[in-house]
Amino acid sequence: IRRTTIPQLVALKGQRKIAALTAYIAPIARAIDPHLDFILVGDSTAMVGYGLPDTLTISVEQMTSHAAAVVRATQRSAVVVDMPFGSYQESPEQAFRNAAHMMAYSGAAAVKLEGGAALAPTVAFLVARGVPVLAHVGLMPQYVNTMGGFKAQGMNDEAAARILADAQAHAEAGAFGVVLEGIAEPLARRITEALAIPTIGIGASPGCDGQVLVTEDILGLSGATIPRFAKRYADIGAQIGEAAAQYAEEVRTQAFPGLEHCFGVKKSG
Ligand code: KIV
Ligand code: NA
Repeated sequence: IRRTTIPQLVALKGQRKIAALTAYIAPIARAIDPHLDFILVGDSTAMVGYGLPDTLTISVEQMTSHAAAVVRATQRSAVVVDMPFGSYQESPEQAFRNAAHMMAYSGAAAVKLEGGAALAPTVAFLVARGVPVLAHVGLMPQYVNTMGGFKAQGMNDEAAARILADAQAHAEAGAFGVVLEGIAEPLARRITEALAIPTIGIGASPGCDGQVLVTEDILGLSGATIPRFAKRYADIGAQIGEAAAQYAEEVRTQAFPGLEHCFGVKKSG
């Protein structure tokens, strides 16, 4: 099996929709890998995996470790890793140093970074030096403090025009795709039509070239409430609870372990 390359992802635009999910650890990555075009090692693991209130406090080393686990557990999907807050905004040089480190030590094929047109020169700097970049515009969780919360973006004409300009700047800078998160549906459609590179929607539009969701949200592993833009496809959290309850009951009643789970037991008869 050959792993999907970044140029192969780009070539899917206009051919068929691109399907992506997040993974942070090997078991999830292994299970979803056969079915996807790319896997995003998202910094959403700060909230989903570590229970933090936002995505700001996750490090380059943590993201590198998660990405390495996902790469080792997969064979098919391209792996894209999120650059964490503070690892790329200072300068193109800082961005390259951290992107190169994350790619070299994880095996990920590309990075994703959040930002408006101000980050386009950074995208160009990375792409020219061998780092494929997936840009991320609209609702950018790393900008939660400037946005004043996690809320849909581009809801008026001025804001919409700015997000379209951000996406166009990234495309011109050489980004291989752009994630559109939490923006007005008609705007996502307009951006998708305007760009030659794929748009990957999350809370955006069915008209996007692809979709991405947080895997824990679709599996029932991220608590009782999920974002409006997510959809629950399974309730693995409940299944885990049932399995744990049955195990605990069997330990207490001594139904587990049986002798078949033990070593050095003499076979009778
Ligand atoms: O961190 C993440 O999971 C993401 C996606 C939801 C786009 O950035
Ligand atoms: Na992210």
